[in-house]
Amino acid sequence: MLATALIVSALRHLEWMAAGQLALAASLLALVVFFAARDAANRLRQTDALRRTNERLETEITHRARDLSEANARLRSIIDSAVDGIIVIDARGQIESFNPGAERLFGYAESDVMGRNVNLLMPSPYHEEHDSYLQRYLATGQAKIIGIGREVTGRRSDGTTFPLHLSVGEMTVGGARRFTGILHDLSPRVAMEAQLREQTALARLGEMAAVIAHEVKNPLAGIRGAIEVIGTRLPGGSRDTATVKEILARIDALNDLMKDLLLFARPPKPRPIHVELRPLLSSTAALLAQDPTLREIRVDVEGSAPPISADPEMLRIVFQNLLMNGAHAMQGRGTIQVAIRTDDGTCRIAFADSGPGIPAEIRGKIFTAFFTTKARGSGLGLATAKRLIDAHHGRIDVDCPPAGGTVVTVLLPAQPV
Ligand SMILES: Nc1ncnc2c1ncn2[C@@H]1O[C@H](COP(=O)(O)OP(=O)(O)OP(=O)(O)O)[C@@H](O)[C@H]1O
Ligand SMILES: [Mg+2]
Repeated sequence: MLATALIVSALRHLEWMAAGQLALAASLLALVVFFAARDAANRLRQTDALRRTNERLETEITHRARDLSEANARLRSIIDSAVDGIIVIDARGQIESFNPGAERLFGYAESDVMGRNVNLLMPSPYHEEHDSYLQRYLATGQAKIIGIGREVTGRRSDGTTFPLHLSVGEMTVGGARRFTGILHDLSPRVAMEAQLREQTALARLGEMAAVIAHEVKNPLAGIRGAIEVIGTRLPGGSRDTATVKEILARIDALNDLMKDLLLFARPPKPRPIHVELRPLLSSTAALLAQDPTLREIRVDVEGSAPPISADPEMLRIVFQNLLMNGAHAMQGRGTIQVAIRTDDGTCRIAFADSGPGIPAEIRGKIFTAFFTTKARGSGLGLATAKRLIDAHHGRIDVDCPPAGGTVVTVLLPAQPV
């Protein structure tokens, strides 16, 4: 009986213990579920917040990218439409960007110069020295042109040079140094200054020539007359006769020079009439034969043009000078071809000789007054011809074809008269 009672009590105790543990386990489980659910809810909230942030950032990036590409396009269009040349180089002087303004200035396409040394756009000695300028600046930081700007000389793709104003700015992109050059063409300004200087000089020369004509020519005529009289009084066979002749010849040469100078410095106003060019050219060519040193020169005139409105005396002076130049270039022997034609409202008279041509280094100077390569030349021939043709609203072109010789072309308006 006692044993049975003990067993029942033990069983009850066990039941009680199992029920307690179960309750504990259930509580623990509930806690675990609670925390897991709370974590999951938190993660869900975080994921949601992250997704929204991500969306906001993506929209921001899209806007920024669009703004950046618009700003780039604006900058590109400013650079592309700039009249000035804009060139970007790296620290070694290699071209990274060359805008259309620079293409127009230098005559190179961007693709021709990309990656090439910028010194290709400079004449000597800057062409050879530019690398060392750049290295010196990078080493010392001493700027000679950066941030200052100055007038420099550019070299076009055809080798010709022209004046430029260059300003250089420096920037660092991705840790690498770059230089941006802005180049402004000064050719029109320089040409205008030269024209102004020339006009001022010509006006002064005109005044001077008038004074010479008045103050020197008349007394010189008197001296000439007196010397002639003395010459006639010399006894026959006198040794002084030759000296008198020499003095007279020198006075005549001086007179001719003054006449030429006056014509150049103060050309008369053209008095235009109806001019037939072919007969005018033929009669001018006939005058050459009067010079004994030019007797072996032939002048062939071909072509024709309707009559033009011009001053025939002024044209005769021009044609005579061009024929004389051709004849001198051929050493007084050979044929000068003169071709007349009219096209596009312009009458062209081309004088072609078979002389040695005009050396490239003096071609730019031949229209300058007093420039001559001849021992007895005054250097006023072409300068005067240019002034007389300018007064007719025409132009003179000079060309030395590779085949040899020189072709000087007078272009005149072929307006009907
Ligand atoms: N047809 C030509 N062929 C070669 N050289 C030429 C020719 N025409 C002109 N020249 C060069 O141009 C220079 C200037 O010519 P320009 O007619 O002005 O003066 P010039 O002939 O020397 O002297 P001037 O005409 O006053 O007697 C010449 O000295 C010569 O060197
Ligand atoms: Mg001449």
